[in-house]
Amino acid sequence: MKILAVDTSCDETSAAVIEDGRILSNVISSQVDLHKKWGGVVPDIARRAHNENIENVVKEALKRARTDIEEIDFYTATYGPGLAIALEVGLKYIQNLAIENDKPFVPIDHMEGHLLSAFAQNSKGTIDSIPNPKKHLPAIGLLVSGGHTELILMKNFGEYELLGETLDDAAGEAFDKVAKMLNLGYPGGPVISEFAKLGVVKDGDERFGLPIPMENSNDLNFSYSGLKTACLYKIRDIEANNKKFGPQKKWIHDFCAEFVDVVIKSLILKLEAAVEEYEPKSILIGGGVISNVALRRAIRSAMRKHGIPVLQPYTERLFTDNAGMIGVAAYFGIKHGTIDVLRGKDILNVDRDPIAQVC
Ligand code: KG4
Ligand code: ZN
Repeated sequence: MKILAVDTSCDETSAAVIEDGRILSNVISSQVDLHKKWGGVVPDIARRAHNENIENVVKEALKRARTDIEEIDFYTATYGPGLAIALEVGLKYIQNLAIENDKPFVPIDHMEGHLLSAFAQNSKGTIDSIPNPKKHLPAIGLLVSGGHTELILMKNFGEYELLGETLDDAAGEAFDKVAKMLNLGYPGGPVISEFAKLGVVKDGDERFGLPIPMENSNDLNFSYSGLKTACLYKIRDIEANNKKFGPQKKWIHDFCAEFVDVVIKSLILKLEAAVEEYEPKSILIGGGVISNVALRRAIRSAMRKHGIPVLQPYTERLFTDNAGMIGVAAYFGIKHGTIDVLRGKDILNVDRDPIAQVC
């Protein structure tokens, strides 16, 4: 079964070809350079760039997968959540291709893509990532991206329960906003993560006194807007008292290290609470912030104590937005009969949904 998948939910135009859960190609055209000078994603610029790129990205995905369009059995695209005018470009493009080629279309939720990305197989099928429901389910998914921070209980394919989510900003958004405060550019995640590796943070003797978000909330939710404000005030304080802290070059690494440390602690705290309450057989991790190596190490170390395996995508390319994960989610949905398979005119009844919820 071959699937052509597209994701245009934010600032990457991506297309992929998937065969039976194996990702044959996964082309990602990033718009970062276009948005950089604005310090974040500008929806109208994103839409224009998606429109300009979508056809070439799809052609390239087919070429790299050595697949003719006639060999595609199913078409899929992200319908939400994401930026409305960006989602629309990929969704309409794929809906029209499905109709033109008289093939079925399946709409996929972006977060289901991140959740199931751990079950993606490489093109040769040499990675042991095939889900084994008896061994892996129920699972808890920890999804940490620029738009979402979620804990999801996966009872089975298509059976998801939202255990906790951010009440305001997502963790990735906090990385991006704090990077902006420090004039480190956009996106903030990669640069803050790199700077953090160069800094030192001592447990119990934190230099900047940044709070661990939602430490005592007694639920499974997250919140990063308070941390963002604490960072803003602290940075102002440091800049006004630079004699004490020294030049930016000196304190910025320690600051990034402490910021990453409290974000990691907040995520681990809630993950452990969820594990104790729901006793899952495995943990699935996904989303752009999962690219942070210290975070992955902390998750593995915490879950080792509980004896629970942590499953992650076989390549870092699948952490950040990509169409491969959307094709993988479509494959499992079709295989298990848990998603709508639409044909003919019904295909056009699917509209983009910027605030779609997978559960
Ligand atoms: O999953 P994703 O590509 O898009 C959304 O669905 O939102 O995640 C993007 C987020 C951005 O906030 C970016 O700063 C963050 O992931 N990110 C990282 C790293 N790489 C990307 N955060 C921490 N460390 C990284 N290495
Ligand atoms: Zn995403």
